[in-house]
Amino acid sequence: MSAERSPTLHRPGLDSLRTVSIIATGSYVPDRVLTNTELEKFVDTTDEWIYTRTGIRQRHIAEDHQATSDLAIAAARKAMENGNIRPEEIDYLIVATCTPDMHFPSTACMVQKELGATNAACVDLSAACSGFVYAIDMARQYIQSGTMNTALVIGAEKMSCLLDWEDRATCVLFGDGAGAAILQARGDQYGILTSVLGGDGKLGDLLNVPGGGSRLPITPEVLADKQHVLKMAGREVFKHAVTGMAGAAQETLRRCGATIDDVACIIPHQANARIIQAISQRIDAPMEKFYVNLDRFGNTSAASVIMAIDEAARKGRIQRGDLVLLVVFGAGFTWAASLLEW
Ligand code: ACO
Repeated sequence: MSAERSPTLHRPGLDSLRTVSIIATGSYVPDRVLTNTELEKFVDTTDEWIYTRTGIRQRHIAEDHQATSDLAIAAARKAMENGNIRPEEIDYLIVATCTPDMHFPSTACMVQKELGATNAACVDLSAACSGFVYAIDMARQYIQSGTMNTALVIGAEKMSCLLDWEDRATCVLFGDGAGAAILQARGDQYGILTSVLGGDGKLGDLLNVPGGGSRLPITPEVLADKQHVLKMAGREVFKHAVTGMAGAAQETLRRCGATIDDVACIIPHQANARIIQAISQRIDAPMEKFYVNLDRFGNTSAASVIMAIDEAARKGRIQRGDLVLLVVFGAGFTWAASLLEW
């Protein structure tokens, strides 16, 4: 892709509004690496099974003393440093997470306190693995309308604390980490062209954490029954993830009058390499177009796509002017796609 903007691309609803861009990113993973080979020592699994079924080789796991906000703060500091943004400039702080530090206050408020982002409105967003793309679109609306100027949008998760480490079908899939993005309208036309967001609550039971909320508060029975940890119908989730992400990607391109050939890089939710391969076939996009780093991080839920964006940008895999397609899927179910002119 050249840095010249295509005159044929549509920017639905944007003609008279400011275009909002990701102007800087950062990410953080805890030091501790848990390889598939180490998992073999305490779960009935093998490196070969995990790698061939998922593409995952290792994941990072937070220390006991680290909460989701600690990961989020580390990622945010890097994004702010990269964007040369002072804490007081941030007027909107969103943390997408399904592993908040506490029920309340929000993880966003905890991040705000440590960063000294005293002018920021703070909110957590719960859309599981789709959370980051939902969150940048929320920030985009506020900035476009002129209500806010600078948003700090973070995807952060400590998935390790939601896992049943005796359930080999789920515990091998996830990891901990955080990514952060600064969004502003800089006066040029590069930025988010459009987003497609969707959900289907009827399928919520296929991937959830039943206990620990108001429906099933923690009791000795809930703990004994392991209702406080992640439950997943893997095969069903797999099928819906493929159709949900492929559909959202195609609808996003259609709305912008773009084709897959115009896209320089697709950054999908990093859940499973086989899901990404199936999407590649459905939308007729070669695998080389997809940025994949799940082999090193596993599925970090709301953090996955922004961690991948940050790494792709640092490695020069995405360049100024490139069309970048983000596409995600998560519990709920929720899904989202976003087309960006980088
Ligand atoms: N090691 C060894 N064997 C295993 C393991 C493991 N870690 N996990 C499951 N198995 C076994 C099962 O017990 C089963 O054995 P059986 O045939 O004797 O009963 C066999 O492997 C096949 O199990 P399936 O669940 O049918 O395996 P499948 O090929 O579907 O792969 C997987 C399972 C990897 C979980 C797959 O279904 C998947 O990736 N689903 C999507 C999951 C996902 O990405 N979720 C998150 C997306 S949304 C979000 O991020 C919130």
